[in-house]
Parts: sequence; C-alpha cells; structure tokens
Amino acid sequence: MLALAGLVACDGPPDRTPTVGDADVSRGRQLVSDKGCVACHTFPDVKWPRGRLGPSLEDFGRQGLIAGQLPNQPGVLMQFVRNAPAQVPGTAMPAIPMTDQEARDVTAYLLQLQPR
Ligand code: HEC
Repeated sequence: MLALAGLVACDGPPDRTPTVGDADVSRGRQLVSDKGCVACHTFPDVKWPRGRLGPSLEDFGRQGLIAGQLPNQPGVLMQFVRNAPAQVPGTAMPAIPMTDQEARDVTAYLLQLQPR
C-alpha cells in the first residue's frame, strides 16, 4: 500500500506550489486588494489601484530574490509578506497582520505572477 501511494504521487500531475500546502491562488489575488498591497504595488491582473511606492510585482514569480536579499522561496516569502521588517531590517515595507492561511494564499498568488 505504501509503495503504491508513492507511485501514485510520482505519477500525479505536477504540483506547482508544492511547499505552499493548501494555498489558493484566487483567494491570494483577492487578499492583495483587501489587505492594501495594491496601494503600494502593481500587479498584472489588478487594473486599479496600481501603487508605485513599492516595486512592481508584475514579474515577481520569476524573480530570484525578495527585496534584493532573501531567496524567493515559499517559506521565506510567507514570512516576508506578513512581517517584512523582521526579515529585512529597515525596509519600507510595513508588517501586515495575516493568518497563516492568508499568508499561504498570498504567497501562492505571488509565486505564479508573470506579465500578461
Ligand atoms: C506601505 C507600502 C506597502 C504596502 C502596503 C505593501 N508593501 Fe510590499 N513592499 C513595499 C516596499 C517599499 C518594498 C521594497 C522593500 C525593500 O526592498 O526593502 C516592498 C517589497 C515587497 C516585495 C518584494 C519585492 C521585490 O521586488 O523584491 C513583495 C513580494 C511585497 N512587497 C509584497 C507585498 C504584499 C503581498 C503586500 C500586502 C500583504 C505588500 N507588499 C504591502 C511597500 C509596501
């Protein structure tokens, strides 16, 4: 049974967000509006507002580093989006209170961003 489960996992469709668990990209898309991220950042699928205080995130899914210094990996990004100052001291990006699930959803959304 165990061996079979392993086989099934290997044959399954590729999981594009393997370490983000049960994250939901469309909820993440809604959250960047609800949490005010759009006031400071530009997203490819948000027409307005298109904030310019922070860097554009239109191509963020292909970016190698977060804030020029952290590896762009799901676990790191999850921490960064809810508490950037703890990860990058002195950053202008504020801490934004979120539940674990919200941080996962936002992370999954950010990691699939590319220009449309
Ligand atoms: C008050 C403005 C502001 C808000 C609100 C804000 N950010 Fe930022 N964000 C910034 C700034 C400024 C930076 C650049 C940080 C740095 O380089 O130190 C940044 C950086 C980032 C980065 C890294 C970008 C890169 O190119 O490396 C991500 C990802 C990000 N923010 C996501 C979010 C998300 C998701 C939210 C909402 C939960 C959010 N931000 C809310 C200002 C903001």
